Amino acid sequence: MSGLRSDAQQPFGGVSRRGFLGGSLAALAGGLATPALGEASDAQAWRERVRPAGALDAAYWARVRREFNMVDDISYMNNGTMGPLPTPVVEAQTRYLRELAADPRARRDTELVREKLANFVGADADEVLFTRSTTEGMKVFCRGLDLNPGDDVLMSSHEHPGGYGPWRAREDRDGVVVRTVDIPAPPESAAQVIDICERAIRPETKVLVVSYPIFVTGLLMPIAGLAEMAHRHDVLLSVDGAHALGMLDLDLHAMGCDHFATAGQKWLLAGSGTGMAYFSRNVQDRIWGDMWRRTPAEGARKYESSGQRHMPSLWGMGDAIDFHSAIGKTNIQSRVRSLATRLKDGLAEISGAGVGTSGSAEMSGGLTTFYVDGVPKANMTKALMDRERIYMPGSGLNDFSCRASTHFYNTEDEVDRVLSVVRHVAENRATYSDA
Ligand SMILES: Cc1ncc(COP(=O)(O)O)c(C=O)c1O
Repeated sequence: MSGLRSDAQQPFGGVSRRGFLGGSLAALAGGLATPALGEASDAQAWRERVRPAGALDAAYWARVRREFNMVDDISYMNNGTMGPLPTPVVEAQTRYLRELAADPRARRDTELVREKLANFVGADADEVLFTRSTTEGMKVFCRGLDLNPGDDVLMSSHEHPGGYGPWRAREDRDGVVVRTVDIPAPPESAAQVIDICERAIRPETKVLVVSYPIFVTGLLMPIAGLAEMAHRHDVLLSVDGAHALGMLDLDLHAMGCDHFATAGQKWLLAGSGTGMAYFSRNVQDRIWGDMWRRTPAEGARKYESSGQRHMPSLWGMGDAIDFHSAIGKTNIQSRVRSLATRLKDGLAEISGAGVGTSGSAEMSGGLTTFYVDGVPKANMTKALMDRERIYMPGSGLNDFSCRASTHFYNTEDEVDRVLSVVRHVAENRATYSDA
């Protein structure tokens, strides 16, 4: 992200260049992170380092990994809960914080970040709102929809509390009926999933809520097919895409859902307190914002109603998108899938191990759920840590399944070390089962 903006159209709203320089030099003397004046050249430097030139081989991904400052005594495979921040994003956020600390009038162009986000997910800027989490994005949609007692909301039985919680609250408050439908782990095909959901729709059904991907099975619900089917029944499709932003090459317009909420702290690697939601232009006149507005033409901005927020994190989302874009969205998606496929293929060869995530590329991404028969998850995650220093406590389908997150900064070696531990546990099942 570049370009300071202020109401006065001057850097820092009129702070003199001398004051600005002085602040930067003082920060440098204090040993703080990158000074603002170095911004442009620093950005060039990391962009050059992560720019794909030639084969996207292990050497390339090792170069990308060096842009992180992760603790090196563990292998982190829990991105599905929280991702690490690349150093350029940390430095950008730090810079914004320091600018605000030096002068509370300091402004970055928030609308530029909105445009970047919209472009990154295949939406228009008027359809995108900033949130602080996926849950917030799910809540705003749920609260804004007019529903009558007896109206029906259908969802998969594998939704996260952040996705189903708002609807359950309306069930208690408004008499809305929430029903769940079981999706196999893994299903046979996308058509099977669509068929299961369609059979569960009733005349009272107003909304279908699904995840992309489901957090406990890694399944990518077939959103485009579900949207087409739901719209045929005059049902809205709301998607909990907490893990999708930064993992998958999203094109929300092509997917056709009405609403999509996602996080910045997970696969976008933008840090906590960041997120976005999408409200298709087609539904904005049906969903209320919860604050009174003067201007009618705000688009999805009308749903941003939570007052002041942590601007360095919000602006830093633009830098996280720059970081992903420099590597390439499709390159990231391929890398994520290739590591997950390596894991699934290796697990398939281990007797006694099983995988709950689909093997199909269309129906899976960077979350892989697996188990060894009879071995509690707690024992498996302990073995992963004790034997190979692998950190993998993420939510599994049940007490016997683990969830591995493979993001682009993970390595083939880390995946192979997971496999070596699972093989060991499977071969010594009696030791690791509680019975
Ligand atoms: C599918 C899903 N939805 C929602 C959430 C909640 O995310 P947030 O903390 O961004 O609200 C999570 C968190 O893990 C999740 O996995």
